[in-house]
Amino acid sequence: MNDDKRGQTKKIPIVDLSDPSDELVAHAVVKASEEWGVFQVVNHGIPADLMRRLQEVGRQFFELPAAEKESVTRPVDSQDIQGYFPKDPKSLKAWDDHLIHNIWPPSSINNSYWPNNPSDYRDVTEEYTMNVTKLTEKIVGYLSKGLGLRCEALKEGLGGDEAEYLMRINYYPPSDSVIGAPAHTDLCALALLVSNEVPGLQVFKDDHWFDVEYINSAVIVLLGDQIMRMSNGRYKNVLHRSTMDKEKTRMSWPVLVEPKHGLVVGPLPELTGDENPPKFESLTFEDYVYRKIKKLLRD
Ligand code: OGA
Ligand code: NI
Repeated sequence: MNDDKRGQTKKIPIVDLSDPSDELVAHAVVKASEEWGVFQVVNHGIPADLMRRLQEVGRQFFELPAAEKESVTRPVDSQDIQGYFPKDPKSLKAWDDHLIHNIWPPSSINNSYWPNNPSDYRDVTEEYTMNVTKLTEKIVGYLSKGLGLRCEALKEGLGGDEAEYLMRINYYPPSDSVIGAPAHTDLCALALLVSNEVPGLQVFKDDHWFDVEYINSAVIVLLGDQIMRMSNGRYKNVLHRSTMDKEKTRMSWPVLVEPKHGLVVGPLPELTGDENPPKFESLTFEDYVYRKIKKLLRD
């Protein structure tokens, strides 16, 4: 793997969702998903002012004194992944300071992981949730269509109230010595990410790291492991990482979309047959995560 930290300048695809031709939009989404596993969407329908307010409440939370942020820290004996996680001072490799909690469906929400400070955190996050779930469904619709007309199965596990959505907020203060997020693919189905104006996200393709250009108000769509598995490898799970800026604080807000818990996820039967055998084992999302963390996967 080429480890050049500078990144190349070739641009990742940008899809304008306001294009009047739905066919062209669908084609661009599918092509980007097959070739890159990542694309940016513009004119996506989420109001720019709401995105600005989302960033404002997240920044306000992270700028609180540590003791205040710890009010949403996960209890030490909990198996839950939700809560506020300050950077582990022992870790020299990556800067892993983040807050994560479920945002959809309402039955999955645990209020004890939602900050009360700033006071408009909840309203803004709820309003963003309504918008980001709608945008996700639109994209999943295009991805389903791209796999063939009979194939609605992608929407079965990832549409409506079936999927689970989590908000993650990453906080990377200025540094010239550590990486923000080390290279990884997302375990979930897909992630819709917005960041502040400080660039740093890089994606890997054809043996190179590419910088993801910062576009004001764009949403970055990163395809994860589950979409790759469902599509039997047709859609890529993009390898990505984030660097830290020497002078500025970078923040990012990926919303992680996970399949309905308990659903067995694997290559869709409509896509496989004698000529196209399944390339991946079918597993529930929970089993997949467990095995990937324990590195027991055959894929
Ligand atoms: C992540 C991630 C990248 C970034 O949280 O999974 O890839 O830009 N973040 O912060
Ligand atoms: Ni990621």
